Amino acid sequence: MRKIYSDRNKLVYLDHAATTPVSAEVLKAMSPYFGKYFGNPSEPHQWGQQAKTAIEQAREKVAHFLGAKTSEILFTSGATEAINLAHKGLIENQKLPHIITSSIEHKAVLETCKHLEKLGWAKVNYLPVDKDGLVKIDDLEKTIRPETILVSIMYVNNEMGAIQPIVQIGQLLKKINAKRKQKIYFHTDATQAIQYLDCRVTELGVDLLSLSGHKFYAPKGVGVLYFKKGTPLVRQQDGGEQESRLRAGTENVPYIVGLGKAIELVQKNKVSSAKYVEKLRDKLMAGVLQIPGVKLVGDFKKNAPHIATFLVKGAEGEAMMLLLSDKGVAASSGSACTSGLLEPSHVLLAMGYQPEEAHGSLRFSLGKDNTEEEIDEVIKVLPTIVQKLRRMAPKL
Ligand SMILES: Cc1ncc(COP(=O)(O)O)c(C=O)c1O
Repeated sequence: MRKIYSDRNKLVYLDHAATTPVSAEVLKAMSPYFGKYFGNPSEPHQWGQQAKTAIEQAREKVAHFLGAKTSEILFTSGATEAINLAHKGLIENQKLPHIITSSIEHKAVLETCKHLEKLGWAKVNYLPVDKDGLVKIDDLEKTIRPETILVSIMYVNNEMGAIQPIVQIGQLLKKINAKRKQKIYFHTDATQAIQYLDCRVTELGVDLLSLSGHKFYAPKGVGVLYFKKGTPLVRQQDGGEQESRLRAGTENVPYIVGLGKAIELVQKNKVSSAKYVEKLRDKLMAGVLQIPGVKLVGDFKKNAPHIATFLVKGAEGEAMMLLLSDKGVAASSGSACTSGLLEPSHVLLAMGYQPEEAHGSLRFSLGKDNTEEEIDEVIKVLPTIVQKLRRMAPKL
């Protein structure tokens, strides 16, 4: 087994797109709901009502952040559940509906769509992306059919940070919807966008939007689905009457409270956090790009400020990630090690990279607590790691 402790005492965490730690303020807000206020929110007694009030206060914070109504906010166990509910819940009562999504979505969207296709419940088109990882509005427009019911395009890509033209897609669909009987609903997976981009649903023109708490300093296992009033959703988890009968099961009160606090903090600090991580990202980029044979994925000017993904010639992503981990640095590689085979990232392949290039991908994702000294540390250790792996690589 690999050692799990690094050689260094000081750790540098640069994997915030994978998950963030629960912040101290969030933990403090949650803590009474594990103890003193433990009631079941469905119970009318005071214990239950305390818990219910806390959920409704969190719902108000989320609604305020998204510019939505409280009745349009559902709490879920995370973005994956929100995405499943948005897609499956929307198509359930439709006759062979058509969905349009992109080829670079998170697996939560791609696997949901594939499952619906496999069951014969929906037809799906997966839009290509350009070299910067962006879908083209023209491609989307051409793909729309009379039976199209859902367009699902992520806001920010989790592997390389490209920001999709959500506002323009929303405007296009509004124009098209004005002329047709079957409305096309618009979902965006805003999981990676929430901390730094405008997520007000009216500005975006979306009907459905999903979020995950653990990407913005709330715990893992809690998320949100925004659904615009009138969106015909059928619940996918049957049982009790919770969450306006759209998501059965006793609510995770402490985590919902934590998510509410975390979204309040995002709202307060959004502009300054975006500027801060962007400055660190630019410093990191300048340093890493000094290594010969390294290039940045996508156009950083069109990307979210917290993600920088590099392709390193002659070094394997997973190996770089593990050697960085030994040096106390957390990064991520786009390759997924499934069944002993390293699969190149579907996102990089969709952007037109060859599998051998895609194997050399390394993603750094920044957060509010990172410092310039940490970036200096990464810039110091990475060249040696790359050299070492290049020396070890078989000469063809
Ligand atoms: C873009 C995106 N969508 C969806 C998810 C899934 O979120 P969750 O872990 O809450 O199910 C993630 C998490 O990695 C993500 O980055």
